Amino acid sequence: MHRIIIEGGKELSGEVRISGSKNSAVALVPAAVLCDEEVTIANVPNISDIDALDEILNFLGAKVKRDDDVIKINSSNIKNKLIPEEIAKKLRASYYFMGALLSRFKKVEMYFPGGCSIGARPINLHLKGFEAMGAKVEENNNLFTISADNLKGAKINLDFASVGATINLMLAAVKAEGTTIISNAAKEPHIVNVATFLNNMGAKISGAGTSEIKVVGVKYLHSCFHEVVPDYIETGTYMILASAIGKDITISNIIPDHVEALISKLDDIGVPMQIGIDFIKISAPEKLKSTNIKTQVYPGFPTDLQQPITALLTQAKGKSIINETIWENRFLNLVELNKMGATTETLTNSKAVIMGPTKLKGKKVKATDLRAGACLVIAGLIADGKTIIDNADYILRGYENIIEKLTNIGAKIKLEEIE
Ligand code: EPU
Repeated sequence: MHRIIIEGGKELSGEVRISGSKNSAVALVPAAVLCDEEVTIANVPNISDIDALDEILNFLGAKVKRDDDVIKINSSNIKNKLIPEEIAKKLRASYYFMGALLSRFKKVEMYFPGGCSIGARPINLHLKGFEAMGAKVEENNNLFTISADNLKGAKINLDFASVGATINLMLAAVKAEGTTIISNAAKEPHIVNVATFLNNMGAKISGAGTSEIKVVGVKYLHSCFHEVVPDYIETGTYMILASAIGKDITISNIIPDHVEALISKLDDIGVPMQIGIDFIKISAPEKLKSTNIKTQVYPGFPTDLQQPITALLTQAKGKSIINETIWENRFLNLVELNKMGATTETLTNSKAVIMGPTKLKGKKVKATDLRAGACLVIAGLIADGKTIIDNADYILRGYENIIEKLTNIGAKIKLEEIE
């Protein structure tokens, strides 16, 4: 177990280089088991969610070599074994082995995945899609057995543009017989990144990044080299931080188009930004204006930046209203912000208000999930005095080298291991 200690209230400046996307990498690594040869993936973030996936690959018998941000995976001789529940539960993305192993072996047994407690997180859309492709799904005490004599392409319309279901169904369809059409598909940058990876191996996927994806099944996937796309949620987190306490912070190695929704919000609240081809430079303005935020699927305002931006909005003049439409339990960070002197109120599961500006004071708080943790790191950097963030392991799941990156721009921050 870890905690993060921050001495806040210091202006930060310098450059932050953004890592590969967590939510892309956690899909690319399981997708590698579809390949009949070795694949190489570069720009893989060094985060604990990747360690957990590495553990699963090793358990299945894959040959995995990691060197810095490069991972080489050879799954040609893996065995289709039941992944122990304690490993499957370490993260959400273990469920991508469902689609990948089903596609490859036409049968998979998997426990219900883990992940941050930010809502009910059902997987009904994934299962309904597998069934549409001819698979039989049985569930017994959180253990799913999914099998198909003949996995066949199908027309699947998702009730909701779910990221997980879109990727899992793409994976299942890659080696299914015939053509699969996924409509109302998710359009996030990581969907495109995963489709490109699979196509690099010889898959036939078109339409990724639009709401209709077509997958024509193939029999063999060959070796390839692929790079993880820059993390737009990490990008956004540092943009928010820079808007609060930055002086000429350059956030580099990014794709500005992916954070368009955040750029537009920061513009509304009065943050000046210099936007380059692969960087954004931000200084905190003297005064910030309040705003309203409604989370939406991509390219709308991302739910994963909703919690981080609440720390910034404690510094904005007036009443900001947050409408969280994706997850039912994503306001626990507000309880912690109030301990630090913020004035926020959670009205319903989906609506909260923040009054500002309020002075934040360093306090002992706890991260309840990954992005709540990111919110508290930003709040701790804004606040006067010492902030101690318990449950910091959540933060380490998704932010590569966060301590080093913040130290480099002048933050007084450290990670402590506790029992
Ligand atoms: N949903 C269903 N049934 C399903 C699947 C989803 O009802 O079968 C609902 C969910 O309950 C939720 C909504 O659809 O209300 C969105 O879920 P989605 O499937 O899109 O989310 P996910 O794939 O479980 C990924 C990210 C999340 C991110 C969401 C939304 C990964 C590993 N996780 O989750 O990331 O919030 O997409 O963009 O890619 C994070 O990084 O902090 C994080 C939670």
